[in-house]
Amino acid sequence: MVRELAGLPTDKDSVRALDRMHVFHSWSAQGLIDPLPIASAEGSYFTDYDGNRYLDFASQLVNVNIGHQHPKLLAAIVEYAQKMTMIQPAFANDARSEAARLIAELAPGELNHVFFTNGGAEATENALRMARLHTGRHKVLAAYRSYHGATAGAISMTGDPRRWGAEPGVPGVVHYWGPYLYRSAFHAATPEEETERALRHLRDLIMVEGAHTVAAIILETIVGTNGVLVPPPGYLTGVREICDEFGIVMIADEVMAGFGRAGEWFAVQHWGVTPDLITFAKGVNSGYLPLGGVLISDAIATSFAERVYPGGLTYSGHPLACASAVASINIFKDEKVIENARRLGTDVIGPELAKIADRHPSIGEFRGLGVFWAVELVRDRATREPLVPFNAAGADARPMVELAAACRQRGLWPMIHFNGVHIVPPCTSTEREVREGLAILDEALNITDSCYTGSAE
Ligand SMILES: Cc1ncc(COP(=O)(O)O)c(C=O)c1O
Repeated sequence: MVRELAGLPTDKDSVRALDRMHVFHSWSAQGLIDPLPIASAEGSYFTDYDGNRYLDFASQLVNVNIGHQHPKLLAAIVEYAQKMTMIQPAFANDARSEAARLIAELAPGELNHVFFTNGGAEATENALRMARLHTGRHKVLAAYRSYHGATAGAISMTGDPRRWGAEPGVPGVVHYWGPYLYRSAFHAATPEEETERALRHLRDLIMVEGAHTVAAIILETIVGTNGVLVPPPGYLTGVREICDEFGIVMIADEVMAGFGRAGEWFAVQHWGVTPDLITFAKGVNSGYLPLGGVLISDAIATSFAERVYPGGLTYSGHPLACASAVASINIFKDEKVIENARRLGTDVIGPELAKIADRHPSIGEFRGLGVFWAVELVRDRATREPLVPFNAAGADARPMVELAAACRQRGLWPMIHFNGVHIVPPCTSTEREVREGLAILDEALNITDSCYTGSAE
């Protein structure tokens, strides 16, 4: 059903034509794309103008953690909009105060202060600035397998190929290899070896860069788009220890991993580690309005008690966005959304993927937690040759493009990155929906099996 609203185009062709004429899209060659007009969304599904319904196994951009059009969240937004839609950041505001209180209360340790932004990039950008000013040092160590956002500092810290187009970036960023046992940069054979060697690599980098020049180490608690890489036991604790030893600020980027995605409020809670700064966005209010932020330790906040923090945004702590965060967090609590995400991971997605991997030789590895999983596809399980090359495009990417098309034809909207399929449905998904999506994926994976060149196991 297309809901007609005054002043907006009502048919698919006008929506598409106006888009092609005037909208400039992210990360795209403008002449090579054909964006699908979407008419409506509800719960775990969205629907196009022809009535095709898709199960959203991508939660849009891994952000609609509460599902589409949650009625209570919509009601809270409408109610607050009728009270007030804008008060600039220098005033105190009820929604902003309560959102900050709730977020600080959920966070581990002494992370008691929140600087609000409009999204993830501004959060990592400000976290870097805070770390530099707090330590008086300028370098930041950031992982190659990472994405931290598209503004100057955030894209410079990003390790994946999205950085290339923005280079030369801001000075002072040094990239490192994080743990990834399946494709270990350290020739490790066990999780223990991977942890030990990845930490030694960080120490070596700090030695040659000069500890007195390093302001921060930033990491995605669970690397998101670049493969859902869950850190091996001891790694995060080890990074915390290194930061403490050298007076380096530990920044956990939880823009994707936070707010239920990994089955905890914050993914660091799986490992009992408290960073100095946590960046968040996406799941904090599921993007019903743009919102992100930095959770700040007492120690770092105190550095700006008597001196000005040189940063701000017209929409920092936007009242309507903050009101939606308050409502979303309360709904998560009332409806036990975190528990649901955790259970979907342990009882449904993990066990089902194990069975699917038995049936499909092209699955090299699957990994994840909560509703945050990836299946990594290979041509050969023995050599682990990726199904498509790193950063594949055009004809090289064809098997993944065909896999995505097969999923969509069957009503599943997948998230594909390089040679991986990410399974990242809303945290509110039902078991039936998740099983439905996995069954479609199971069928579609016959396509990638046909590219398998290794021997049958
Ligand atoms: C881990 C991580 N950090 C930062 C960002 C940037 O967030 P935004 O797109 O809201 O600027 C993203 C976005 O995908 C992300 O996944």
